[in-house]
Amino acid sequence: MWPFTKRKTLADADAFRGFADHHSHLLPGVDDGIRTLDETLRALKAYERQGVAQVWLTPHVMEDYPNETERLKDKFEEVKEAYAGVAGAKPLQLHLAAEYMLDTVFAERLAKDDLLTLDEDRHLLVETSYFNPPAGLRDILSDITSAGYRPVLAHPERYVYMEAYEYDELHDMGVKFQLNLASPTGAYSPEAQRNAEMLLKKGYYDLVGTDMHRLRSTRAVLAQPISSSVLGRITDLIQKQNKHI
Ligand SMILES: [Fe+2]
Repeated sequence: MWPFTKRKTLADADAFRGFADHHSHLLPGVDDGIRTLDETLRALKAYERQGVAQVWLTPHVMEDYPNETERLKDKFEEVKEAYAGVAGAKPLQLHLAAEYMLDTVFAERLAKDDLLTLDEDRHLLVETSYFNPPAGLRDILSDITSAGYRPVLAHPERYVYMEAYEYDELHDMGVKFQLNLASPTGAYSPEAQRNAEMLLKKGYYDLVGTDMHRLRSTRAVLAQPISSSVLGRITDLIQKQNKHI
């Protein structure tokens, strides 16, 4: 039984070595994530120590936080400048994108072509409410694709409304999925954990992120035991995504 029941942590697996964190709320004071520049710099130093290579700062853009693109860019420049002053021997590569809630603010930004993408291939990180999809979710995702963007659905495992067949439909449409590292540890809910395990098994994820709002919660995630089979799938996925950047 021993090899099948052994549980290790993401820290044991050195999951952050070379990691590209595609989802974080490290841009200070713009959403419900990190609040001050000092806190951001402490988090970046902690990332460095754990061997993280790249971080995407992906603040919320939604009705509750209608962050303007230019303001986010200005804040990002402040972070980059401050970080340059304290960066270690192997500084992190920092990128700015955003996590767009599929609401009316998003519809306006899409119409104006005013969106911050993850990369030059126009991958766009989007989310929905955890409890209800927006009306016409698939149509919205098709509109995003028609506008020349590539939708990446943030933490699909956390959407309580989503049925197994809907993940298949979205995946078949070409929507990419981003796993939250905390989900397979059970940190959110048993349902999110089960969904994450199912989607990992199906090979549906392309990207991984911490969705870090506070440094301490990310540390807790790294220390949480996970079954060795699930841990193996996560580390394979991380290696695959790190190579593609
Ligand atoms: Fe997020």
